[in-house]
Amino acid sequence: MPIPQADGERAALDLLLRGFQVSRMLRLVADLGVADHISPGGGVTINDLAAACDVQPQPLIRILRALAAFSIFSVAPDGSVGHTARSRLLRTDTTNSMRHAAQFWASAGPWEAWGQLDIALTGGVPHDAAWKMSRFDYLRAHPDEARLFDSMMAHFPDNRHAAIAAAYDFSNSRLIADIGGGDGTTLYEILTCFPTASGLVFDREDVVRSVQPDRLLDGRITVAGGSFFESIPAGADIYMLIRVLHNWPDDDCLRILRACRAAMKSDSLLLLGEQVLEPDPANGRPTDYLLDVQMMAMFGSARTRTEGEFIGLLAESGLRLQRIISTESPVSIIEAAPM
Ligand SMILES: C[S@@+](CC[C@H](N)C(=O)[O-])C[C@H]1O[C@@H](n2cnc3c(N)ncnc32)[C@H](O)[C@@H]1O
Repeated sequence: MPIPQADGERAALDLLLRGFQVSRMLRLVADLGVADHISPGGGVTINDLAAACDVQPQPLIRILRALAAFSIFSVAPDGSVGHTARSRLLRTDTTNSMRHAAQFWASAGPWEAWGQLDIALTGGVPHDAAWKMSRFDYLRAHPDEARLFDSMMAHFPDNRHAAIAAAYDFSNSRLIADIGGGDGTTLYEILTCFPTASGLVFDREDVVRSVQPDRLLDGRITVAGGSFFESIPAGADIYMLIRVLHNWPDDDCLRILRACRAAMKSDSLLLLGEQVLEPDPANGRPTDYLLDVQMMAMFGSARTRTEGEFIGLLAESGLRLQRIISTESPVSIIEAAPM
């Protein structure tokens, strides 16, 4: 018999209050690869599914039932488990899979940092209070979480890599340098669309060491390890900082932007790929503000920024904002040129 559903603001708030429970269960099923063990069009018995995941069926079915109440997986009365449109997004072989994001948001690093969120309100860094080290030191010390972070950035649900390649005309660029370019996915997408360009991924040593050879487009993409606080390779036509500045407070952003400016030729351009924060939350996307607080939890005074804040940072670095180009993703391209 269908159960009457509570509705209204109280019910909506009640679900939001328990959001962490849903995140934690999603991480668990993503870690187990549950979605990959169910064929996209078929079902599987809970016993076979539990055996494939190497866990006990009873606790697993209880978690899957709770997720099915959010339309993530379906659980039939006989206990067989199937897919829904949402659970299919957790399959690893889905384009722009959300499995990595499900594993990442509630992974140990962010989970403990959010547990210390209060510290931010008195000037501390929640992540550092939880782990006694900075986020990037933590990633160096936890290679499994570091590679998960790289995969999450590569598959982030915003599909920004393809969206950036589609929204900007790179046809006159010979060399494009992606600074803090992660696993190279953005350059891979751009160079696939613009076959005469070459690319350079610049990131931390441990990150570029793990870039997969099949992402390098037969040598059209090269990699270089180093720190953007020290120096950035010179001579590219386009420099990109995609989702990099929001990891840093203003003074560090100025150091990164000035290092870019020093590497740029007089006719080079700098493209920032960032979610530009709408000053009025009533008109903004909830994920923009969640990202802003995620930055606070992980890095303290790092944050997402408004257009005016970007103009100010660029101007202090000898750069002039030329235009902001929207993409199909929440990330906009902020184009800047040397003053
Ligand atoms: C949020 S991720 C963005 C990755 C990539 N641009 C993307 O959009 O998927 C920030 C990147 O900055 C890199 N990074 C952090 N500190 C760095 C440093 N000092 N020098 C170079 N890269 C750094 C990280 O390793 C990471 O790949």
